[in-house]
Amino acid sequence: MSTTITITGAGGQIGYALLFRIAAGDLLGPDEKVRLRLLEIPQGIGAAEGAALELQDGAFGLLEHVEVSDDAAVGFDGCDLALLVGARPRGPGMERGDLLAANGGIFGPQGAAIAANASPDVRVTVVGNPANTNALIAAASADGVPSSRFTALTRLDENRARAQLAQTLAVPVDTVRRVPIWGNHSATQFPDVSHATVAGRPASEALEAIVGDVPAWLDSTFIPRVAKRGAEIIEVRGSSSVASAASATLDHVRDWVHGTDDWTSAGVVSQGQYGVPEGLVCSFPVQSIDGEWQVVEGLEVSDWARQRIEASVAELVEERDAVTALGLL
Ligand SMILES: NC(=O)c1ccc[n+]([C@@H]2O[C@H](COP(=O)([O-])OP(=O)(O)OC[C@H]3O[C@@H](n4cnc5c(N)ncnc54)[C@H](O)[C@@H]3O)[C@@H](O)[C@H]2O)c1
Repeated sequence: MSTTITITGAGGQIGYALLFRIAAGDLLGPDEKVRLRLLEIPQGIGAAEGAALELQDGAFGLLEHVEVSDDAAVGFDGCDLALLVGARPRGPGMERGDLLAANGGIFGPQGAAIAANASPDVRVTVVGNPANTNALIAAASADGVPSSRFTALTRLDENRARAQLAQTLAVPVDTVRRVPIWGNHSATQFPDVSHATVAGRPASEALEAIVGDVPAWLDSTFIPRVAKRGAEIIEVRGSSSVASAASATLDHVRDWVHGTDDWTSAGVVSQGQYGVPEGLVCSFPVQSIDGEWQVVEGLEVSDWARQRIEASVAELVEERDAVTALGLL
């Protein structure tokens, strides 16, 4: 048995960071063979073909096959896991409506091609921005595929949040859990530390001992640092987040397939949980149980947190209304 994985935008930066880790077994483990389908647009085919040559030169024992194509029917043929990375970036002078329209023109047809060609239990992870709304459009275009099979990546935001909290508390990052991201993968996102644990114990007391006024620290330091980390990376590195985005994509898909033993974050189609309008692709605290993402329900949400969540959800509603007006939904 092997798993067929389609990576769109495979000739781009995140694609390049993903391919070799997948071939090395970092996604599905050392025993699962993989077949890769690299889907690009004609301008990106050369880069994807070059990456395919390098994959061959990596002599990866787990890598059974690599196919490069600019035809979505070929790219999604028999696909078990679809990583939708390729997207239209915002160009100079481009309004948000133009960006949504350009990406709707990509993710609508890709959703339809997934429905027509992928395996029946395909799992789709949208990385390309605006990720939540792109996932919404793809899901709406994929007749016959349950919308629960479409997700948007917010794991990078969660990883950033856990890393910032770990640094503040001076503890190893893997001891920090339960720092979910709510809302949109954008500057309005709400990284929530109110349920955070360190080595299984609530982090609140330790945090208060270090930062003093926790609400003030969240407002002035933690939330902006996490929400604007992408811009910080661009400023320091001169280029957007790539390896960390690829790593978070692997975390998301690995947990989806193999399950979680605690909460994490993912953009999933809302069933109305926590008052988020049904059908929006919103980031929630989730657990992966029996191969399905399930929203962690019944959490206490303070008025302050609820306002933050509502602000990000309002942005998702605006995006949905904009793509509906464009005829993309
Ligand atoms: N969700 C997240 O956490 C997160 C994090 C980082 C980056 N991103 C987003 O990921 C996307 C990719 O980033 P990158 O750095 O790899 O960009 P990139 O420009 O290096 O690569 C994008 C690739 O996508 C290809 N592409 C464009 N349209 C396509 C289509 N219709 N089908 C197939 N391929 C197509 C391009 O040819 C290009 O090779 C961007 O939208 C970026 O904003 C998301």
